[in-house]
Amino acid sequence: MTAHERALRGFNKHFSGDPTLVVRAPGRVNLIGEFTDYNGGHCLPVAIDRGTWVAARARDDDRVQVLAVDLDDARDSFSTAIPIDRLPVPHWANYVRGVFAALGRQGHRHLPGVDLAISGDVPRGAGLSSSASLEVAVGEALRRLFDLDATPLQLALAGQQAEHDYAGCQCGIMDQMASALGKANHALLLNCTSLTATPVPLPADWAIVVIDTRITRGLVESAYNERRRQCVEVAAHFNVNLLCEVVEADFATRSVGMAPLALRRARHVVGEDARTLQAAHAIGNGDLVSLGHLMRASHRSMRDDFEVSLPPIDALVELSNGVIGDTGGARLTGGGFGGSVVAVLPKDGVPDLARAVKLGYRNPSGELAHVHLCSVAAGANLAGALGTG
Ligand code: GLA
Repeated sequence: MTAHERALRGFNKHFSGDPTLVVRAPGRVNLIGEFTDYNGGHCLPVAIDRGTWVAARARDDDRVQVLAVDLDDARDSFSTAIPIDRLPVPHWANYVRGVFAALGRQGHRHLPGVDLAISGDVPRGAGLSSSASLEVAVGEALRRLFDLDATPLQLALAGQQAEHDYAGCQCGIMDQMASALGKANHALLLNCTSLTATPVPLPADWAIVVIDTRITRGLVESAYNERRRQCVEVAAHFNVNLLCEVVEADFATRSVGMAPLALRRARHVVGEDARTLQAAHAIGNGDLVSLGHLMRASHRSMRDDFEVSLPPIDALVELSNGVIGDTGGARLTGGGFGGSVVAVLPKDGVPDLARAVKLGYRNPSGELAHVHLCSVAAGANLAGALGTG
């Protein structure tokens, strides 16, 4: 059964009758531009053909009833008439509660009650933004159901606010923007200062492969939030608000005298921002060799300077790059400390890569990676007429 079907069936069973609509919002994979978003820089994600489906119908009262079909039909219920509590972290329902609260803060007050059934096929903890796709899907369902005057960017911001206030992760805006604004067959060059997205067409003969390492990210929030704090401190050294205001050409002179750890963090962010702009250019030119070079440099920088990789992931990246050669590249993607490796390569090279990963990689529990050839999807939208699509 597909996630769409599971959401529909769950809805029928628990709330009786049909939902008014079903929406879908995608997960994402970031090609390059890691930890640049909250530093005001650029990143280059694509929305993927995995996502979260929400079946929704308005109620006559102010209750929100939520059914998490994939979590053994776990349920949550709260009222929109009073301030919405955050549950002890971590709790899946905080993402939903957080979106309601954030939309309220954006001015969409007094939302009516609603029944929501949720299902998805983004693996959790795989660095593919299952939580952002949930947040954006909930926002999109409410926008359509209640005709909210909210742009895709506002839904993305509401999702990010939910992470900050209800999930305890001080994330940037990349994941939610990718989920809300994704464009089929395009990467999105995000400018995280102006909050604009420029679609970059992807050549049809390139493959984007996600290799889920099956090392789920543990205690990410604390390590992630710590990196973010370090970036804020380092920005102060340069007398800027956001680290990406420092341009790469000035970095060597402006970083003289910095403590080694601060220097490494800053060097990653400033260098990664420059690489991301070059990568967008390379994609626009159909230049897979340059893109591959930039992706490999990005991985080294995450490993050595930002220090968010792990030895088995480094080995997997090396193995992948060895198979891919010069035409394309592979790197750790997402928030780090586990998750997925992304590879971009010619389509006809995918079977060799998949074979090599199967032979050469096991996670620390001895399990195989999951290799997924992605198609690049559109952002949040209706999932199609009931029962289809
Ligand atoms: C996570 C966050 C994003 C971004 C990436 C790293 O996915 O949610 O905002 O910071 O990590 O690039």
